Amino acid sequence: MAFENMKTMLHKARHEGYAVGAFNIVDLNSTRAVIDAASELRAPVIIQTSPKTVIFWGPQILAGWVKSLAQQSPFPVALHLDHCKDLEVIRQCIEAGWTSVMIDASSRPYQENLALTRQVVGIAATSDVSVEAELGEIGGVEDDKSVADADARLADPANAESFCRQVEIDCLAPAIGTAHGIYKGEPRIAFDRLAEISRRVPLPLALHGGTGLSPDVFRQCIRLGCAKVNISTQLKHTFFDSFVGYHGEHRDQYDPLKALACQYERLKQDVRCLIELFGARGKGE
Ligand code: 13P
Repeated sequence: MAFENMKTMLHKARHEGYAVGAFNIVDLNSTRAVIDAASELRAPVIIQTSPKTVIFWGPQILAGWVKSLAQQSPFPVALHLDHCKDLEVIRQCIEAGWTSVMIDASSRPYQENLALTRQVVGIAATSDVSVEAELGEIGGVEDDKSVADADARLADPANAESFCRQVEIDCLAPAIGTAHGIYKGEPRIAFDRLAEISRRVPLPLALHGGTGLSPDVFRQCIRLGCAKVNISTQLKHTFFDSFVGYHGEHRDQYDPLKALACQYERLKQDVRCLIELFGARGKGE
């Protein structure tokens, strides 16, 4: 089994110029689809959970599923808590076995973000858990987090450099113009800013708001230091569309396992395509 934190897998990815997919799961079927897709491609993978999903299932149940499925894969699997503002939920997840957490204090002033992130790094260090932090403010809606377009702020490269010098995080999520959810128009990615942040910060960077970005945008961001790519909304759509679509085509069937099998295949197919696109095929070996 290779159930581990994100540190080694993301350093290797940044160094070798590919990205590890971080996929938000909602249940056992979606977790199984993501881990199996990665395992078939011999790729490292990050299973990501929003705080809302943790609260829905409870940390023990969720961690149990991921650990038992990760045990069946010979390739690295991390379990990461996405966008969490609540230290208590962070503590509970670490106790239950999460290998990685994101403290999202990006809506706070710089010094408060730094202080809270330091606190989380202190809690995480005792359990060998990796930490991601956010700078600037990423727009859009992600589960229980909503940032209006007018409030989204790009990360400042000088702040990113001083932040990472002052606190020992493992991954930085700088706001560079991507947004959570479905893009209303063509996203305007601040590639120059990303390049400058990448020049000043040697850490793996996380690209949020992956749903709807073009292959070319993914490639450019990965080339500029994004070693982790987050995908959530696309999988939520596939989760519904595949299940409902299956029933639409088999109106007289009420066999949930057949619909779940269809959902599993469709989710796995999405994740496989994205892992290939991020260049992570074969990188788990
Ligand atoms: P999307 O929902 O746009 O794929 O973004 C996912 C994400 O960044 C989770 O943190």
